[in-house]
Amino acid sequence: MSNYTRVIDGLHGRKIVLGVSGGIAAYKSAELTRALGNLGVDVHVALTEAGARFVTPLTFQALSGNRVWTGLLDEEMEGGMPHISLGRGADAILVAPASANFIARLAAGLANDLLSTLCLARDCPLLVAPAMNRQMWENPATQRNVATLQADGVTILGPAVGGQACGETGPGRMLEPVELCESLLAFFTPKLLVGRKVVLTAGPTFEAIDPVRGITNSSSGKMGYALAAACARAGAETVLVSGPVALSVPMGVRRIEVTGALQMRDEVFAALTGADAFVAVAAVADYRPAEPVAYKMKKSGEAIHLQLAPNPDILAEVAALPEAPFCVGFAAESHDLDVYAEGKRRAKRLPMLVGNLVSDGLGGDENTAVIYDEEGRHPLPRAPKTFIARQIVERIAHLLPTG
Ligand code: CTP
Repeated sequence: MSNYTRVIDGLHGRKIVLGVSGGIAAYKSAELTRALGNLGVDVHVALTEAGARFVTPLTFQALSGNRVWTGLLDEEMEGGMPHISLGRGADAILVAPASANFIARLAAGLANDLLSTLCLARDCPLLVAPAMNRQMWENPATQRNVATLQADGVTILGPAVGGQACGETGPGRMLEPVELCESLLAFFTPKLLVGRKVVLTAGPTFEAIDPVRGITNSSSGKMGYALAAACARAGAETVLVSGPVALSVPMGVRRIEVTGALQMRDEVFAALTGADAFVAVAAVADYRPAEPVAYKMKKSGEAIHLQLAPNPDILAEVAALPEAPFCVGFAAESHDLDVYAEGKRRAKRLPMLVGNLVSDGLGGDENTAVIYDEEGRHPLPRAPKTFIARQIVERIAHLLPTG
């Protein structure tokens, strides 16, 4: 892990108490423990008696690097009271999985084991990820209990809809570990873009030559996807118009998949209604084959000539709209970054542009970047794209016109 994540990642250095109650989804909590640990979270696991029957304390101890707690009284703990000491200094308690029984106990304010007592004695936020059979989830008693928890300020994560361990399909699956990590990250992200709508482009475009061939570039889409995820976490309604990439849709983001630049432009303009900001991260091909062939071309052994037509500049077109949203451009340059990036910002009349050197991170997970706006240039230190994205979001939120 890079040393930058140590100081800057939104979850890094946080202390999370992970409560595991009895349910088959407890096996996913082992993976969750590791995933949180990889994000630099200090994970302390508290198991209910039923939880410990699905996954042993030893497993969680090995994965978290911390002692695992099961009993209400413990001679080795300061004061012998884990229910007080364990919660002290925690940034949050996350109960995953939360069984129907555990949710009922929480709603009733019971304190009849370590985890329920921890939750009752907490002075930090409580997040709960339900996991149960769909009928148990849909039962009015469970729904009533969940509503009670929500009214008490508890955050409910999920459940997801899908296949269940019992063979049925419906709501009740625990969110996947990666989704729970993302939910925690979102929970700790300041909601700088609430009530705002952001449209983004990402990835390369693919300009067809014939039905199976085309012109494209090596954009991975990672920066655009990281930025879309950061916008969603900050509370924005987020629409991502994406060229072909091998990335999954970030949580809370509506993705529209496109191939060529013309289609990307159409989808961007369709999505722009009500948008406060447009962020163009896509590496749009500047040219496309003028006349794509409708059938698969056969080789003849002769040289062929491909006539290319210029593609529309989507960002420039959006920025030139009479009621243009706040427009942010990107520029990846091989040299003279300041000159080219600031030049592009002015040429396209953009209030903000993010520039970076191609040698610095194209396709990778880290990047350096410089933000250019009316107030000058603002270099960002080398960091993971997720962190760069968060800083860009902060700057957008700062510069967005109010009202
Ligand atoms: N852009 C766009 N539509 C295009 C081309 C670019 O929306 N047809 C956007 C990109 O998403 C990016 C910015 O414009 O935000 C890049 O500006 P541009 O000057 O077009 O960059 P390059 O295409 O890299 O220019 P050049 O090849 O001349 O360096």
